[in-house]
Amino acid sequence: MRKNADDGKERCAAAVVDEELCEIAATLIQTRQNIPARHLREPAPSAQQRQQLLDAAAAAPDHGLINPWRFIVIPQDKRALLAEVFAQALVDRDPDATPEQIATAREKAQRAPLLLLAVARLGPAEPAIRPLERMVSLGCAIQNMLLMAHAMSFGAGLTSGQALDSPRLQALFGLSEGEQAVCFVNVGTVSKRKSPRARPLAGDFLSSL
Ligand SMILES: Cc1cc2nc3c(=O)[nH]c(=O)nc-3n(C[C@H](O)[C@H](O)[C@H](O)COP(=O)(O)O)c2cc1C
Repeated sequence: MRKNADDGKERCAAAVVDEELCEIAATLIQTRQNIPARHLREPAPSAQQRQQLLDAAAAAPDHGLINPWRFIVIPQDKRALLAEVFAQALVDRDPDATPEQIATAREKAQRAPLLLLAVARLGPAEPAIRPLERMVSLGCAIQNMLLMAHAMSFGAGLTSGQALDSPRLQALFGLSEGEQAVCFVNVGTVSKRKSPRARPLAGDFLSSL
């Protein structure tokens, strides 16, 4: 089901000459930073704000319009299931894991007020779009969410780890063939912020043919 983008057309045309919008966009992009989940607190985004985050994701580029990703929210009353998967996945990898390490693995499921799993859909699709392009689309969707969360004054950060490849996690989330758990998106109110990091200069990543 696709939302009609016509509503935004007029604003888009105006945006071409809107320097203020450019400044806002630059500020938003340049001031976003990854907020670790341990530095997030309640309150979480409201239901309406959560919807805005998802609408932002839906505006990501999508070659072939195949919707090559999805997000799964993990509500508070299901966090214990995820905690158990984190703990078991750690023991699968390291049977000698200490009780402290297992407790930390469990605790990670509880940190973010809003927690979403980002899933790439890399299986067969019509039209056939390369998996790399689908991953780009997911990356854009995630970045749209991060920026929208930042615009709402929430903190947001990504977490990954080896548990994402665990069959236990794939079973918990009901991932089907071709679906890949990529990372978690954590959103909440910032309790602590780090100093801004130095960004690469254009000269570091741009060359000319
Ligand atoms: C796919 C992906 C997974 C990530 N996983 C983690 C993670 O597990 N733990 C973490 O601290 N940061 C994680 N990050 C966030 C990066 O560490 C962070 O973006 C990087 O340090 C740059 O900082 P900035 O986002 O504030 O510019 C992840 C980022 C991406 C794109």
